[in-house]
Amino acid sequence: MTQTALTESSAVSSFVEAYPAAVAALIRLDIDFCGQGDRPLNSLCAELGLDAAATMRELTSGDEAGEGTENDWHALSNTGMVDYLVATHHRHLKRELPRLQGIMDAVAHALAAGHPDVRELDLVFSGLHKEINEHLYKEEEILFPAIRTVDSGRVPPMRAPLLVMLEEHYHASEALRRMRRLTAGYAPPPDASRHHRALLKGLEALEYDLRLHIHKENNVLFPRIFSAVERIEAGTPPPYRPQNSPADSSAGSP
Ligand SMILES: [Fe+2]
Ligand SMILES: [Fe+2]
Repeated sequence: MTQTALTESSAVSSFVEAYPAAVAALIRLDIDFCGQGDRPLNSLCAELGLDAAATMRELTSGDEAGEGTENDWHALSNTGMVDYLVATHHRHLKRELPRLQGIMDAVAHALAAGHPDVRELDLVFSGLHKEINEHLYKEEEILFPAIRTVDSGRVPPMRAPLLVMLEEHYHASEALRRMRRLTAGYAPPPDASRHHRALLKGLEALEYDLRLHIHKENNVLFPRIFSAVERIEAGTPPPYRPQNSPADSSAGSP
């Protein structure tokens, strides 16, 4: 993927796409690349008390994204992007959330009586699980079918559902932040059981995948849809490739 040179004032979301390893660092540093992805890195660093130059060095220390890699979501049409999200991130959540709920229930049953942090973790995770199930249903049954019609030049009424999804992404991000704080960054206590360790490892992986998922919707797909709708309403055809373009063939690959 061709990258323009990044600077400390580049949008924080652009680091995610240029340097895949930056995602883990952004999560660890609590830099909100999902909800505030269009803000300059140095501005977010200033608010968090982080040194922008050092942070930039850390974010760009890994390998750059290569041509045609999984990060090249911009190559997909709107329909291709939606199909990709359902086949990868949505499928992953539908498999992982019930699995983690089972482990969470077992850990909470064993530990919650003497561990208020575990009890709170159980409440936050169970709430997130329920909200994500409802969120995925709304995207797959309401928003994504409407987005598919944008490629054919129609303007479905989707501003309200887009805004609802953005609000739900914010709530999911806050739940992830609370879980990370409750578990001290998913660090297992020395006496943690096998189940407890598996839970923390699974929750950390869930956060990584869900933040990347929200980033792709908030910072790539939704802005594209907002501007496409504006262009169609203004009478200008959307400048996207037709469906079934060669790039769509990658939809669904992990
Ligand atoms: Fe989604
Ligand atoms: Fe979403």
